[in-house]
Amino acid sequence: MSNNLLKNKKGIIFGALDENSIAWKTAEKIHLQGGKFVLTNAPVALRMGRLDELANKTNSLMISADATKNEDLDNLIDKTINHFDGKIDFVLHSIGMSVNVRKGKSYTNLNHDWLTKGWDVSAVSFHKLLQLLYNKDAMNKWGSIVALSYMAAQRVFPNYNDMADNKAYLESIARSFGYFFGKEKKVRVNTISQSPTPTTAGKGVKGFDGFVSYAEKMSPLGNANAEECADYTVTLFSDLTRKVTLQNLFHDGGFSNVGVSQEIIDIISKNN
Ligand SMILES: NC(=O)c1ccc[n+]([C@@H]2O[C@H](COP(=O)([O-])OP(=O)(O)OC[C@H]3O[C@@H](n4cnc5c(N)ncnc54)[C@H](O)[C@@H]3O)[C@@H](O)[C@H]2O)c1
Repeated sequence: MSNNLLKNKKGIIFGALDENSIAWKTAEKIHLQGGKFVLTNAPVALRMGRLDELANKTNSLMISADATKNEDLDNLIDKTINHFDGKIDFVLHSIGMSVNVRKGKSYTNLNHDWLTKGWDVSAVSFHKLLQLLYNKDAMNKWGSIVALSYMAAQRVFPNYNDMADNKAYLESIARSFGYFFGKEKKVRVNTISQSPTPTTAGKGVKGFDGFVSYAEKMSPLGNANAEECADYTVTLFSDLTRKVTLQNLFHDGGFSNVGVSQEIIDIISKNN
């Protein structure tokens, strides 16, 4: 159902790879709510993925950009402003990648060159993006910027590996840059800390299925899926949340505030 919550709003969506991607679902929901956007992803994802399908379906322009490259981001922002003939109202950063996770390195035996690469893609890219948007004065007043995070930024999830550190860094950038964006431009910057979700990035984490079923049993409302995350992001891009900024917002069915659930106690008691 559409309430036209994003009518007349224009933005950029990073990170839609296939129909499972959180960014893909978000693009569909934004389209439904009347928003317009440019879709972007790394050149390799544009070649291998199916972004053109989503672009056709939502009548969107596709622009390739490696989010670690300032020149690509610069070009993306200029072309977007040109395309819409005006500034931007919303940006979704839905990007994550760890070479150590991909190659099965454990946290106690990391390759630090790979760590640097994953940090650049997953966290520093957000600072690069914010800095360019800020210095180019690319955002409309009361605009909204969201990046996606995970609770391993606050609590230990052993197999989440160096992505935990990347998410802690990402959340800190949102707060630190959000201050300046709020003060100078009246633009909000937040992160959404999402439940484990079966996507290409999610399924890359060792023991992902166990993660999902544990979180499902711990969360009073059950895990939040990608579509529900997309709905939440729509609210943050809408005018109904204008004074929400510098926050890391848990979208996890209540998981983050539960010590232990009765279901987990029952399973452990049976096994003892
Ligand atoms: N899936 C989960 O369990 C989960 C949980 C919480 C948070 N998140 C976060 O949600 C976000 C989206 O991930 P997803 O789960 O939809 O997986 P996904 O694999 O569908 O999306 C990750 C995206 O990052 C893009 N990307 C990688 N390197 C890039 C680069 N250099 N430049 C531009 N784009 C690049 C990929 O092409 C891909 O589209 C990530 O930040 C992820 O960490 C995921």
